[in-house]
Amino acid sequence: MGVPLLDLKAQWLTYKEEAKAAIDRVLESQAFILGDEVKAFERALSDYTGSRAVGVSSGTDALLLALWALGLHPGAEVVTTPFTFFATAGAIARMGLRPVFADIDPQTLNLDPKALLAAISHKTEAVIPVHLFGRICDLGDFYAAPSRPRVIEDAAQAIGASLGQKQAGQFGDLTALSFFPSKNLGGMGDGGAILCSDEALEQRLRRLRVHGAEKRYLHQELGGNFRLDALQAAVLAVKLKHLDRWSQVRRRHAQLYNGLLEEKGLLSRGLIAAPPYDPGAVFNQYVIRAQDRDALKAALDAQGIGTAVYYPLCLHLQPCFAHLGYGPGDFPLAEAASREVLALPVYPELTEAQQAEVVDALAAFYRI
Ligand SMILES: Cc1ncc(COP(=O)(O)O)c(C=O)c1O
Repeated sequence: MGVPLLDLKAQWLTYKEEAKAAIDRVLESQAFILGDEVKAFERALSDYTGSRAVGVSSGTDALLLALWALGLHPGAEVVTTPFTFFATAGAIARMGLRPVFADIDPQTLNLDPKALLAAISHKTEAVIPVHLFGRICDLGDFYAAPSRPRVIEDAAQAIGASLGQKQAGQFGDLTALSFFPSKNLGGMGDGGAILCSDEALEQRLRRLRVHGAEKRYLHQELGGNFRLDALQAAVLAVKLKHLDRWSQVRRRHAQLYNGLLEEKGLLSRGLIAAPPYDPGAVFNQYVIRAQDRDALKAALDAQGIGTAVYYPLCLHLQPCFAHLGYGPGDFPLAEAASREVLALPVYPELTEAQQAEVVDALAAFYRI
């Protein structure tokens, strides 16, 4: 029958009336940029995350502005993972800083704390841990260390994720969120936000997002156009009310997959590794590691089962970063992940029958 990787139309049916009313309100106001809708969404996001929230134009721009607002020295090193979406390292390089990579933990696929410490030098001024696929990057004592470099959390995939008593946004100095449509809180176009706890940083971010101006036509510093628009904010405010429920269902789906994969014997034979269950994760993606990943993906594609490879080429091997001097083999755990990972459908509206169909197709591929 087929199962899509993501079914935004199914989700739309669950909040359509509320969203249409919110969109209508914006249309009637004809006020499309920042304004009351953005303020209201920022307040709701602050309440939800327990941090100050500044709405911006995308997750990429959130990372860029977070680095900008910290005022790091030109050429300073920023350590991050090579196994993430390009924007994480792209933002570092675009700000005139040097991306330095450290290998990952093969279980969680997040930055490995020991590798991170080894990569930090006297030139390191910031670290960007990525909460990949919706799981908080657990760096142990690092976040609370008094003399650590500045920390920007890349929580583009992890709004609402938690570890212990803390949630995404409460580990670092600044946090980038993305509202790209496929994210757990997805807009109807591009959007993002930055979280922080420091009032001065918040004020600087608000200035940077409007060409460095605190008052119109008076520019204290350079900035750019990084504004969130009112239509996005209005829709996101509606969807935010549903977010915890959606995250809860994603967790249930992840548990069910883990159970089904175990039952089929796929895990015990080492054909597939399931992501370790983490009660604080929000499973923006449910990512297995699979033997013969590419052939498996082709077999699933042929049956109409949507999957995706996040990410097929590590960032240290990207052509645009050749000048950094990295090569194959430098981060073997990240490179192995890029050969083996496969994301399965895990969107909230997925049914148990669809999950069973996905797992049956996996078992059929391995002839179990
Ligand atoms: C880990 C990570 N960082 C940054 C981004 C950039 O977000 P956006 O697409 O909203 O610019 C994304 C999303 O695509 C992401 O997954």
